[in-house]
Amino acid sequence: VHFTRDLFAPENTLLQKIMGGDGVPPKVLAVVDRGVHLHHPHLLDRIGSYFQPHRSPVALLRPPLVFPGGEKVKNNPEYVDLLQKAIHDSGLCRHSYVLAIGGGALIDMAGFAAATAHRGVRLIRIPTTVLAQADASIGVKNSINAFGKKNFIGTFAPPWAVLNDFAFLTTLSRRDWIAGVAEAIKVALIQDAPFLAFIEAQAGALSRRDPAAMEQVIHRSARLHLNHIATSGDPFEAGSSRPLDFGHWSAHKLEQLTHHRLRHGEAVAIGLALDATYSWLAGLLPEKHWQRLLTTLTNLGFCLFAPELEDSGPLLDGLNEFREHLGGRLTVMLLKRIGQGLEVHEMDPELVLAAVQILKNIASSHFRASPPSRRAAAGYGELRVGGGPGT
Ligand SMILES: NC(=O)c1ccc[n+]([C@@H]2O[C@H](COP(=O)([O-])OP(=O)(O)OC[C@H]3O[C@@H](n4cnc5c(N)ncnc54)[C@H](O)[C@@H]3O)[C@@H](O)[C@H]2O)c1
Ligand SMILES: [Zn+2]
Repeated sequence: VHFTRDLFAPENTLLQKIMGGDGVPPKVLAVVDRGVHLHHPHLLDRIGSYFQPHRSPVALLRPPLVFPGGEKVKNNPEYVDLLQKAIHDSGLCRHSYVLAIGGGALIDMAGFAAATAHRGVRLIRIPTTVLAQADASIGVKNSINAFGKKNFIGTFAPPWAVLNDFAFLTTLSRRDWIAGVAEAIKVALIQDAPFLAFIEAQAGALSRRDPAAMEQVIHRSARLHLNHIATSGDPFEAGSSRPLDFGHWSAHKLEQLTHHRLRHGEAVAIGLALDATYSWLAGLLPEKHWQRLLTTLTNLGFCLFAPELEDSGPLLDGLNEFREHLGGRLTVMLLKRIGQGLEVHEMDPELVLAAVQILKNIASSHFRASPPSRRAAAGYGELRVGGGPGT
C-alpha cells in the first residue's frame, strides 16, 4: 500500500516501479469510475501519455474503459462481462495488469473481474474516495451484489498493489468526503482508542475538509486495516469472527432496504451507532463512551437514523444474512469500551429494537451537542431497559 499525490504526473515513477516486468514488457488495461472521469476530465489523456511508448515499457492496449461508479456497477453483472471481454480482446495474461481507478464499488467489481479472468490477472487498485483509501481497497475481497444481497458473488484475492493518491479526494462530494470516516471510526473503536480521540478532536477540521487531517485519518485507518488482515491469522475469513465488520450487519441490510440511497459509509455510521447503543443498553459499554461516539459521529455530520430501521422484520433478517455470508456460528462484534470490542454470539431482538427507538428519538430531538442519558433516552421512547453499569 503506497501513498502518493498526482500518480499520473510524468515525473511520478511509482506506478512504473510497481509494474516491473520480467523481461517481457507488461500489458495494462485501465478501468475508470465515471464519477472520477467527470471530475478529472484530463485523467484519460494523462493515463494515455503516462504510458506512451517512449516513456514507458508498459503497453497500454486500449483507451481506458469508463464504467459507472457506485453500487450500479456492482448491481449489474454486465460490467464484469464487459471488463472480462476487454481483458480477453486485449490479450492480457497473468503477468498483465488491470488498473482500477475509482470508488470502492468500481474497485470491488474490477477486482472480481480481474481475479476470475485467467484465474487471476494482476490488479492495481487506485482508490479515489476516502472510504476506498481508508478501508475498501486495503483488503483481499472483491465482489459484486446479487439476489438483493451485498457482495454475494466474489473472491478473496490480494491485489498486486494499492496506490492511494490524495489528489483525487479534492473533487469528492461532501457526502463522500465524510462517509469514509465511518470506517476509520469503526476500526478505531475496536482497536485504537487514541485514534478515536484524534478523530474526535479533529471532527471540526474533517468536516471543514481539512486535507491534512483527512490524510492522517486515511493513513492510520489503512494501516490498521492492513495490519489486521496481515496478522489476524484469518485473512480469508475461514473462521466465524469478522471484527472489521463491526456495525456492518445492519449497515449491509440498510443499504439494501434503502435501495442504496445511503452510501456504504453512511450506513456504517448508523450501524456503529446502533451496535454501540445496543452495547450500552446491554450494560457492556459505559455511558460516557457511548455518548462520545454519538457526539463524534454527529459532529462529523452523520445522520444516525434511517426510517428503514423500523422495518423490524427485514432489519433482524440482516443478522441471519450476516451469519449466512460468513458461515458457522453467528459472531457479532459489540463494544466494551472505546478501543476494545467484544464478540457475542446472539443479539436480543427486543434490545435491538430499543436501540433503534433511541436513535430515532435522538434524531427527532435534533440532537446536536450530546446524547441524552440512558434514562432520558429510554423515557423518550417509553422503553424498558435492562440494568447494567451506569444506569
Ligand atoms: N472489498 C472490501 O473489503 C470493502 C470494504 C469496505 C467497503 N467496500 C465497498 O465499497 C463500496 C463503497 O465505496 P465508496 O464509499 O468508495 O463509494 P462508491 O464507490 O459507491 O462511490 C461513491 C461515488 O463517488 C464517486 N467518486 C469516486 N471517486 C470520486 C472522486 N475522486 N471525485 C468525485 N466523485 C468520485 C463515484 O462515481 C460514486 O458516484 C461499497 O460497495 C462497499 O461494499 C468494500
Ligand atoms: Zn464497510
